[in-house]
Amino acid sequence: MSRLIIISNRLPVTIDKKDGELFYHPSAGGLATGLNSLSDDLDTVWVGWPGKIIEEEWEKPAIKKSLSARNLVPVFLNRDEVELYYEGFSNKIIWPHFHYFTQYTTYKDEYWEAYKQVNEKFAEEITSIVKEGDKIWIHDYQLLLLPRLVREQFPEISIGFFLHIPFPSYEVFRILPWRRELLDGVLGADLIGFHTFGYIRHFLSAVYRISGHEHSFGKLNVENRIINVDVFPMGIDYDKYAFPEKQLVDKETKRQFLKKETKIILSIDRLDYTKGIPERIKAYGKFLKQYPEYIGKVTLVMIVVPSRSNVDQYQDLKNEVDTLVGRLVGAYGSFDWEPILYFYRSFSFLDLTALYKVADIALITPLRDGMNLVAKEFIAAKERNKKGVLILSEMAGVSDELIDAIIVNPHDSNDIVSALVKALEMDASEQKRRLESMQSKLKINTVGHWAKTFIEELTEMEKQKNKMVKKLSVGSDDRMRLVNDYTNAENKLIILDYDGTLMDFQTDPKAVIPDDDLMGLLFGIKNKEGNKLVIISGRDRNTLDEWMSPLDLDMAAEHGVWVKKNNNWKTAKNLVSAWKNKVRPVLNNLVERTPGSFIEEKDYSLAWHYRKIDKDLSEKRIREYRDVLQYLTANLDLQVLEGNKVVEIKNAGVNKGKAALGWINEKKWDFILAIGDDHTDEDIFKALPKNSYTIKVGLQQTQARYHLLSVTDVRELLNELIAI
Ligand code: UDP
Ligand code: G6P
Repeated sequence: MSRLIIISNRLPVTIDKKDGELFYHPSAGGLATGLNSLSDDLDTVWVGWPGKIIEEEWEKPAIKKSLSARNLVPVFLNRDEVELYYEGFSNKIIWPHFHYFTQYTTYKDEYWEAYKQVNEKFAEEITSIVKEGDKIWIHDYQLLLLPRLVREQFPEISIGFFLHIPFPSYEVFRILPWRRELLDGVLGADLIGFHTFGYIRHFLSAVYRISGHEHSFGKLNVENRIINVDVFPMGIDYDKYAFPEKQLVDKETKRQFLKKETKIILSIDRLDYTKGIPERIKAYGKFLKQYPEYIGKVTLVMIVVPSRSNVDQYQDLKNEVDTLVGRLVGAYGSFDWEPILYFYRSFSFLDLTALYKVADIALITPLRDGMNLVAKEFIAAKERNKKGVLILSEMAGVSDELIDAIIVNPHDSNDIVSALVKALEMDASEQKRRLESMQSKLKINTVGHWAKTFIEELTEMEKQKNKMVKKLSVGSDDRMRLVNDYTNAENKLIILDYDGTLMDFQTDPKAVIPDDDLMGLLFGIKNKEGNKLVIISGRDRNTLDEWMSPLDLDMAAEHGVWVKKNNNWKTAKNLVSAWKNKVRPVLNNLVERTPGSFIEEKDYSLAWHYRKIDKDLSEKRIREYRDVLQYLTANLDLQVLEGNKVVEIKNAGVNKGKAALGWINEKKWDFILAIGDDHTDEDIFKALPKNSYTIKVGLQQTQARYHLLSVTDVRELLNELIAI
């Protein structure tokens, strides 16, 4: 069984020190509590910070040893790192920004430097423990750069990344000064998971607009790796909350909190401005004011767990909550009733489950929340008695799943007031129906199921990568066979595409002039005895002549419209160009309405290029103009080709494959090699005899037998051949 290395900023246990003695307690927060419930069947190692600054070096080995007994590996952070990387970049920049609290962000270069440095520190730790066959699963916003750093060390390893917080809309994300680096970091992973589809939409939009990678059905092709971006809503350990081991008597528990038969409204959160705690207290006050008949009959039990208390906004929030609670108690409290019971501390698991059980209503109203596990835990704890109502913010990821809750806008206090009344008045059968519907989902989508689905998807991607794509890596059997066949052959035909095969793409096609290395390389191939080198391109013949004339090569231009042999250009038969006068005005109009796009005019074709245009606009334009172009070309022997960021109108029946036949049929070749990168090269691959070496540059579906990953790889192979 392969090992799973989980990496998160915080380990599931936190170290504490009392009277000089170290002890461990469970960490707070959804990531730690959720992942900690993963089944023991998985062979996991968990790498992360144990939550305390250990000043004494001598203490570290003992901590390491005791944690390793639980398969935990500590990454120790010093005081500066905690201040700059954890409290600084993670919690004063990314956390507020990703939760749409941009007014709380504090940009400082030193935070960024520390963030990079600590991500590197994690990478070093992983490098020291990784074994062959291990899978890596990196978690959350504190480690956005880590997937890339691990990828650099281990190009072939399987890396998953999961973001536990929201991914904001592109318009908000783009404000971040380090937006590109952060995206690049995450794109080091093979599988990127989010809680909801909304977060995926925002992420893919940011990746497209900032990093320039377009997705197809959630899959990205980055540096010739396929990255899958998918939704995996995190679950809970259902049975743990539904059937807690130590049963507490409901009434006993209730009596501990309340003197009379009061209805309990429960709220549980870390003290965080994203959780909407002040807004909730205010809405509750409004409810008591508008519905005085409930005074003395309901109590809000509010558990607020201390969190990130060194960050200013959290301290300010604490003061605000204290004041609001005091004001509410002062206004409504009486000798025998308190409107609110406020606890600023964390509760044990058993106390929490007891509270979940006795609560009549859970009031969960974050202003933004990646998921919110408390909502799920409350529903699970109602497994036995089927009594209780969940009021849930539509801004929490969990609201996508728990649609049978009363869903509210947490900014709308009137909405919360109405929801409270509705919940208090809801009859037992309605409560049961809603609870059962939500429970049936949570029973299936447990945290174990969540992790299993994620890992299975990661494994599947690994299999696909190895199966579908036959790479001609240096040293591989196929590569050696190719080189061997080339060496032993007498007559060798080598057909090469130009753009994307010998030269990388640039935004301006005119700038893709061959460099000296390439010219030397092509010269070398052409002049080897027995070699016939042909360039088959979509470019016009004048450009090809201008760039390639010193080489004196055979070539095909405009996808085979023009063929050059023995220094003489000839066109294919029966080509027409008069149609261009009819089509050109349409394309001119298209360019006018789509600034940044342009027309390329060749002898027998017209091409509209839109590589700098936003994909939503270009899709709209293509849809609008497709019919017009089809109509104009209907009775002519023309075809409208939708290529990679280009629509080309050209003579039908002309393609690179037909052009290639001219050379293939020239004589009996002992060795044929063809390399190309885009769909027009597929015609060449199809036209060649089966035993030819056909190579696709990139990982897309192809008729070619092999893949190379980049222009650099192509040049490396060609250099290997001329060195023989
Ligand atoms: N929790 C806890 N002790 C407490 C209060 C809460 O262990 O006193 C747990 C709670 O059971 C839940 C987690 O903390 O599993 C909070 O996760 P959630 O996703 O709701 O919010 P987050 O803290 O991740 O923003
Ligand atoms: C959220 C984050 C986690 C984090 C937790 C507690 O759930 O997504 O990554 O661990 O809050 O916050 P803390 O700063 O104490 O780790």
